[in-house]
Amino acid sequence: MTEVTCNLEAAGIKDSQLIKPFSYINGSWHSSETQFPVINPSTGEVVAQVSNADVAETELAVSAAKGALKMWSAKSANERATLLRNWFNLVMENQDDLGRILTLEQGKPLAEAKGEIAYGAAFLEWFAEEGKRVYGDTIPALSSDKKIVVIKQPVGVVASITPWNFPNAMIARKAAAALAAGCTFVVRPSESTPLSALAMAELAERAGIPAGVFNVVVGSNSRGMGQVLTQHPDVAKFTFTGSTGVGKLLLTQCATTVKKVSMELGGNAPFIVFNDADIDAAVQGAIISKYRNAGQTCVCTNRILVQQGVLEEFTEKFKNAVAELHIGDGLVEGVNLGPMISDKAVCDVEKLVADSIAAGAKVAFGGQRSEAGELFYQPTILTGVTNDMPIAANEIFGPVSPIIAFETEEEAIELANDTEYGLAAYFYSRDIGTVWRVAEGLEFGMVGINEGIISNAAAPFGGVKQSGNGREGSKYGLDDYLEIKYLCMGGLDK
Ligand code: SIN
Repeated sequence: MTEVTCNLEAAGIKDSQLIKPFSYINGSWHSSETQFPVINPSTGEVVAQVSNADVAETELAVSAAKGALKMWSAKSANERATLLRNWFNLVMENQDDLGRILTLEQGKPLAEAKGEIAYGAAFLEWFAEEGKRVYGDTIPALSSDKKIVVIKQPVGVVASITPWNFPNAMIARKAAAALAAGCTFVVRPSESTPLSALAMAELAERAGIPAGVFNVVVGSNSRGMGQVLTQHPDVAKFTFTGSTGVGKLLLTQCATTVKKVSMELGGNAPFIVFNDADIDAAVQGAIISKYRNAGQTCVCTNRILVQQGVLEEFTEKFKNAVAELHIGDGLVEGVNLGPMISDKAVCDVEKLVADSIAAGAKVAFGGQRSEAGELFYQPTILTGVTNDMPIAANEIFGPVSPIIAFETEEEAIELANDTEYGLAAYFYSRDIGTVWRVAEGLEFGMVGINEGIISNAAAPFGGVKQSGNGREGSKYGLDDYLEIKYLCMGGLDK
């Protein structure tokens, strides 16, 4: 039976209507015959039994989005902006409840979860404004009887698949841009974290977003639902955030109908500390960029490269800072490191650590599952790591920091770029020459310079190489949801 099984009062959730265990299609809550459980990764408890939508419901959602497209794209940018801003206001008014729902199903500490809600909401606000600035062009024509005009139009129905690590913000970042551009939207959130997506739908409805414009289908058949979203002829654009492996598969599927695509895929972020860095600032930057969301973000530091001259000082100070982290249930006051999402995720990290130790790495801190619970892994530091060890060569997606020593700036850039990924990179230096040379030399879409947190609505988020294509957020974030149309006007001399 579809039901909410957790004690909402004990979890501090005030508005029980925000927990909706049904898909949201064409402005209605849609029940299915079977259900799937949403598990709290901190406790193993079932939070809710959610209606298990499948291929048929996904097709229904696409056809709802198609049905609403003409009406939505015909609205003025101002009208759409008003509705997006209503949605933003409601999300912020319900920040505490939304944060608690997020922590219940995903595990991240409440302060971080509430931060994610504000981060996601910022995209609704940003694109409400940016949608008003979809400018075209006039281009001097080659003869005087002609005019060349360029207009921008919404691409059409947008389908998306979003991950469990940011159950709110990854939807908001895509949906806000799509809706602002005049597109309609279908999202299939991860089955591990459907409740945050459905709470977004509840607030979209309260905000007055018309039926069919924003649809959420939740279900466990990732393959079947994914095939609809990537291959349906009525879907004009597909956008995905997740691993590079799955992204490649989805890209292949999108090729069958030549969809416009944007992909935000995996990363292997280097975090470089030069001899002249402010070491205390670098330690703080490394802590936040590595242990945010228990290391489960695509932009998390994956390898810490430290120049020989400060290796000992950095390692010692970093170890002391890691020892200050409090691991546990994210709803408990003071906790700043939550669980991992699943047993498989913990096993993957255990294997990377074990294989790297076998290859010569040393455990300087942590190194195993925590007593806090089954899905908790200790914040860990490995030293003596080389770039070819499994812990450095792969995306870790867990709370482990491998430390790699280097001698020169050239070596640091070479090591940093020696990966198929190119999402985020970070480095700390106070020398202006080093700053420019390294910033330009790094083959990554985003570079934090003396800064460990780089994500925000005003900045273009995205990667190069096998980390994906397209940009989300910023003034560039609308481009992926707009088609350019060239109008050639002739016969104007008569
Ligand atoms: C991600 O991990 O995919 C997103 C991280 C962010 O937006 O900062």
